[in-house]
Amino acid sequence: MKKIPIIIDCDPGHDDALMLMLAFGSEKFDIKAVTTSAGNQTQEKTLNNALKILTLIGAKVPVYRGAEKPLFRNLIIADHVHGETGLDGPSLPKPNINSESISAVEGIAQILQSSKEKIILVPTGPLTNIATFLLAYPHLKDKIERISLMGGGIFRGNMTPLAEFNIFADPEAAHLVFKSGVPITMCGLDVTHKALVFQKDIELLRTIGNKSGTAAADLMDFFSIFYRSNRTELDGGAALHDPCAIAWLMEPDMFKSKSCFVDVEINGTLTTGTTVVDFYNVTGKEANTEVVYDIDRERYIQLLHDAISRLP
Ligand code: BDR
Ligand code: CA
Repeated sequence: MKKIPIIIDCDPGHDDALMLMLAFGSEKFDIKAVTTSAGNQTQEKTLNNALKILTLIGAKVPVYRGAEKPLFRNLIIADHVHGETGLDGPSLPKPNINSESISAVEGIAQILQSSKEKIILVPTGPLTNIATFLLAYPHLKDKIERISLMGGGIFRGNMTPLAEFNIFADPEAAHLVFKSGVPITMCGLDVTHKALVFQKDIELLRTIGNKSGTAAADLMDFFSIFYRSNRTELDGGAALHDPCAIAWLMEPDMFKSKSCFVDVEINGTLTTGTTVVDFYNVTGKEANTEVVYDIDRERYIQLLHDAISRLP
């Protein structure tokens, strides 16, 4: 079967790490590059974390360093969830690969420029690199098939009552991406808070018995600490956000979604960084986003399990 060509832009991050494992273990993707965004931790740390995970899983892929900070705002990080390193918990190998000498934006441009086919971008962190790319290389926009991202939400936020971290961290970048005209799939908190990983799932990952399974389980043990104390309504589950953006590309029928018009609030006093989803098309505006809001959780866990089983 023809593999789906993608470029991943991430900020590992525990759930980003499992997203990478799903993408590389699935055998469904032709992964052209991994680029890193500053988000869960500083650019220095998310880049190093990406290199560590790719080393662990034996992935051969060019890695590009992204922006140090959001377009116009100061960097905010999510160390309250991901810890001091951004990947606290497991012991991970020292990277045996280096990042490329050119930036994420230049790397994406080179890949798209020389590609005969359109490529899907999969951002699972703040959208700074993607927005900068769109600003710098508008003529390459048509080479993007779709953007399948984790971020935003219809009915809730996790940084403010309505804003989700990836969008809140760089709202101007997100605004630009949603306005770009590129088709978007948005896996926001509505779906990712149903993409739960429970302790029994973590133990199943551990029993795979390879080093990726052990690391995935250790990562989820640490990640769950935040959710068990701060999201008690999830009954011990941790919201495994980022792999949804990959899983939707693999098996979209595992999800429920609706085509909607989505805009990003950048000027609100209470709502900056909110994805404003016109779920009932009350504005009559043309849909720009496939908004994903539900998932078959058991299938999701199985997909992750199968992918991680194929890794070293
Ligand atoms: C998003 O924020 C980050 O902390 C996670 O990696 C995920 O991408 C969830 O709001
Ligand atoms: Ca992330």
